[in-house]
Amino acid sequence: MTKANSSAKKEVPTSVKGMQDIIGEESYAYSGFYEKASEIAMYYGFKPIETPILEKEELFTSGVGQDTDLVEKEMYSLKTKGGDHLVMRPEGTAPIMRAYIEHGMQSWTQPVMLYYKGPFFRHENPQKGRTRQFQSFGLEILGTPKAIADATVIHTTMIILKEAGLQNLVLNINSIGDRECRPKYVKELANYYKKHLSELCVDCKRRVKENPLRLLDCKNPKCQVIKEGAPSSVTHLCDECRSHFKEVLEYLEALNIPYRINNNLVRGLDYYSRTVFEITEETYEDVPAMEAEEKPEAKGGKKGDKNVKESEIVAVSLALGGGGRYDYLAKNLGSKKDIPAIGVGLGVERIFMTQGYKRMDPRIIKHPKVYFIQLGTHAKMRSLNIIEILRNARIPIAQSLAKDSLGSQLSAAEKNKIPYAIIFGEKEAIDDTVIVRDMNTRSQETVKITELAKYVKTIK
Ligand code: HAM
Repeated sequence: MTKANSSAKKEVPTSVKGMQDIIGEESYAYSGFYEKASEIAMYYGFKPIETPILEKEELFTSGVGQDTDLVEKEMYSLKTKGGDHLVMRPEGTAPIMRAYIEHGMQSWTQPVMLYYKGPFFRHENPQKGRTRQFQSFGLEILGTPKAIADATVIHTTMIILKEAGLQNLVLNINSIGDRECRPKYVKELANYYKKHLSELCVDCKRRVKENPLRLLDCKNPKCQVIKEGAPSSVTHLCDECRSHFKEVLEYLEALNIPYRINNNLVRGLDYYSRTVFEITEETYEDVPAMEAEEKPEAKGGKKGDKNVKESEIVAVSLALGGGGRYDYLAKNLGSKKDIPAIGVGLGVERIFMTQGYKRMDPRIIKHPKVYFIQLGTHAKMRSLNIIEILRNARIPIAQSLAKDSLGSQLSAAEKNKIPYAIIFGEKEAIDDTVIVRDMNTRSQETVKITELAKYVKTIK
C-alpha cells in the first residue's frame, strides 16, 4: 500500500447486504424459539444434529438439482486455495442425508429422527421475509416410507408454530407421485404447456424442455393463468402413491390438522417425491363475493370439503415452512439403496414477522433483580468472587465493574430498572458484608456475605 493510499479516508465497514447482526434481546428471541422448538422435537423423538456451514458443491448440484433456482442462481460458492468447490449451505436436507450415509446411520434403529437449527445462505434479492442469511429450524425422519412419518413431521411442525403463538395456520399439501407415475404426469404437463408456448415467460419456455415440473413453481404473472389450467399430479398418481397420500390425509384428519390440497404445489427443489407441503399464516383481505367464490378451487381445495377452509376472503401469505418426502435423494447422492425420508424446514425470521408470534426467552436468561456496585480498590478486587457466590446460588446480576463512581453505577442500575443494588465498598470489604439497597424506597440493609445469597432470594 502506498503512503497516499493508507492515508485516504477509510470507509466504515458495514455488514454484507441481506445479512444482519443479531444483538441482545433479538438474540434471546432466537435462542428462546430454538429452545422451545428443540424441546418439542425431543419430546417427539427427534435427536439433534449439526452439520458444517460449508459443503462440497456437488452435494447440492446432484442433490437439490441443477435446474432449481437454489442451485442455478442462489448459492454462495467459493473455490478454496486447494481448488475445492465449496458452498455455504443453502438448505439442510442434502447435508443431513450426506451425514446419514457418511456415518452409516442405516445400521441404527430406523427411522432416524433428527432436528437441526442455524444459519443458511441464499443469494436472493433481499426483501420482506427474504434475506441472504436466514435462520432455519428443521426436522428430518430418514429410513421409512410410512405415511405416519409424514404425519409426525407435519404434526410436530404445527405444534412448534402454535407454541410460538401462531394461529391462522394453513397447510397446503400435494402429492407429486413417485418414479412410477410421475414421468407420465410430467409428460402430460409438458404437452399441456407446449400448447401455450408463445404465452410463457423465457424461463418457462426452457423448463418445458428441461424440467416441466418446475413450470408449476413459476411466479411470473404472465404464466399464472396457464398454470391454473394445468393438469394436476394427484389425478395421475399410481395406486401406491394414491393410497400413501390418502393415508397421510387420514392422519391429518385424525390429528385435526386442516389442510388444503394445492395442485400447483411442487416446491422449488428437485429431490421431492410423493408428499410436499407448505405452511403459511394467512392474513385476510376482503374481496368481492364473486372473486372469493373462485378462491377455494384456485387454492386446490373442493368447496364443502370438511378440512378445506372456505371463506369470503383471500389469503396473502409467505411460506413459514415447507417440506416433503425425498425418497430418491440418497441414490442421487451415490447411495446404492434408496433411503426414503421426509422433513421440513422453518424460516425463523418469517415466524417472527407473523401477527400471532409471541416471543419466548431462553430459560438461561433471567432478568436480574440486583445490580452489583463496587467502590474502591479492595472491593473491586473481590467483586468477581462475590459474583461467583451469587452465580453458584443461581442469582443473576447486572454490573459495570469498569465504572468507579457510586453515582454512575447507581444511575446505570436506575436506567436498567433493576429493583435492588448490592453495594460493596472499602468498609464492607473489611467487614465481609455488603449493603443491599432497595432502589425504589432507598432503604438499605447491611448483610453478611455468607448470608447474601439467602437474603437476595427472600427479597421481592
Ligand atoms: P425451503 O422451502 O427452501 O425448504 O426453505 C424452508 C423455509 O426457509 C421456507 O419456508 C422459508 O420460511 C425459509 N426461507 C427460505 N429462504 C429464505 C430466505 N431467503 N430468507 C428468509 N427465509 C427463507 C428447504 O430448505 C428444505 N430443506 C425443507 C425440507 C426439509 N424438505 C425436506 N426436509
